[in-house]
Amino acid sequence: MKAFPEDFLWGAATAAYQVEGAYQQDGKGLSIWDIYSHLPGTTYQGTNGDRAVDHYHRYQEDVRLMAEMGLKSYRFSISWPRIYPAGSGAVNQQGIQFYNDLINELLKYGIVPVATLYHWDLPQALQDLGGWENRELIEQFGQYAKTCFEQFGDRVRYWLTFNETINFIMLGYRDGVHPPAVKEERRAVEVSHIVNLAHAQAVLEYRKLVREKSIAEGMIGIAHVLLTGFPISAAEEDARACEWYEEMDFQWFYDPSLHGRYPERLLNYYQERWQAPTILDGDLALIQSAPIDFIGINYYQSTFLAHNPADGVGFAAINVSGKKGSQQESGIPGLFKRVQNPKVAYTPWDWSIYPEGLYQGMKRIQERYGNIPIMITENGLGDKDPISPSGEILDTPRIDYLREHVRWCQRAIDEGVPLFGYFVWSFIDLLSWLNGYQKQYGLVYVDHQNDLKRVKKQSYDWYRQLIQSNGVTL
Ligand code: BG6
Repeated sequence: MKAFPEDFLWGAATAAYQVEGAYQQDGKGLSIWDIYSHLPGTTYQGTNGDRAVDHYHRYQEDVRLMAEMGLKSYRFSISWPRIYPAGSGAVNQQGIQFYNDLINELLKYGIVPVATLYHWDLPQALQDLGGWENRELIEQFGQYAKTCFEQFGDRVRYWLTFNETINFIMLGYRDGVHPPAVKEERRAVEVSHIVNLAHAQAVLEYRKLVREKSIAEGMIGIAHVLLTGFPISAAEEDARACEWYEEMDFQWFYDPSLHGRYPERLLNYYQERWQAPTILDGDLALIQSAPIDFIGINYYQSTFLAHNPADGVGFAAINVSGKKGSQQESGIPGLFKRVQNPKVAYTPWDWSIYPEGLYQGMKRIQERYGNIPIMITENGLGDKDPISPSGEILDTPRIDYLREHVRWCQRAIDEGVPLFGYFVWSFIDLLSWLNGYQKQYGLVYVDHQNDLKRVKKQSYDWYRQLIQSNGVTL
């Protein structure tokens, strides 16, 4: 294969709650996940991030492993309650210190830091004030973002405001399986608007600091899920179902970030059905005033859609028994339903493996939003990796998965898609929110029976070679 662009960012990603641990250490406040995961029956076998993989104490070893792999960039998230234990008010200097140390360690090896401000761990103190349903969070998120820009913006040049707004909003407020465990779609729709305003507020804070020359100019964006939709058949009614799906799961989230507005048909649908979201004077102007520099996309799978009669299926509850189960046979009566595609392979968690969907999704982004630079902020395979008698982690299915997806990336670049980075989810085996440690994504294995020892997987070596050859070994 031919080489990728010279400065292509080959990376890997994690998120604070899933790796750090030290959940009550050095002044950190509690997050909604610290509370929620301790409630009975919320996560797989009661797993939680209290210790996670102890990255907080082992970050130097982890960064060394990244450097040895030749990683060009590392995407991590900042824990809001580590910076502001009470959500706002006093800054926790020890929290600042941890991220300073991590960033400096990365830079020591020439690894480019990419920081996400919100990967779902809201300070519990802010949840107690109503969480994302309270418009005060717009200001408070802006303040938290500003603090991060001021403290780390001299060294961090790539920023993501939110990770996957669709997931923490829909799983948290519609399906009730993430905190705050609400099951009211109307409230999910309200929250989606408030979160868009908070995102815009953070972008404006960033622009202001850059204008004032308080920090160097970098790029700011948001990471959205890409769940590319395809009609299951050539039937007209399945195509219409797919259009509705794309409006709900794609455009509703991407349009405000990239077009500064909501898709009209769906906005009318929500207004009629739920009288939501409540859009106040000035809201849309705020969203419009904050264009982003790049879009982050998290791609794992595609979704196949069929017509759903008015008395068809509703949302499938997501269980914590190990399978996410949200993708199959769920939908909106009258609009669409998600169905299994018999021609496509599925992971042990029933996620479709459809590398072409990544390419098609990027093409759709380009078609709808023009040449916005794209960073693939997550892509990876959740699996149970066998271990050989000699202790080798055998994860060739992950290598196959990643290779095929990277191939489609190359094709997209060849055809002019402005893709400038690719981040494997995840750098290391970490806590899967609802699936504990049994669902592995990492390039590095963590032995929970042996003091969290790090072991390189086959995919670690494969990725090292890929990076070294800049894609040629494909
Ligand atoms: C993404 C999230 O939705 O998918 C990650 O950004 C998450 O935080 C990943 O871990 C995989 O999801 P899961 O449920 O398989 O752990």
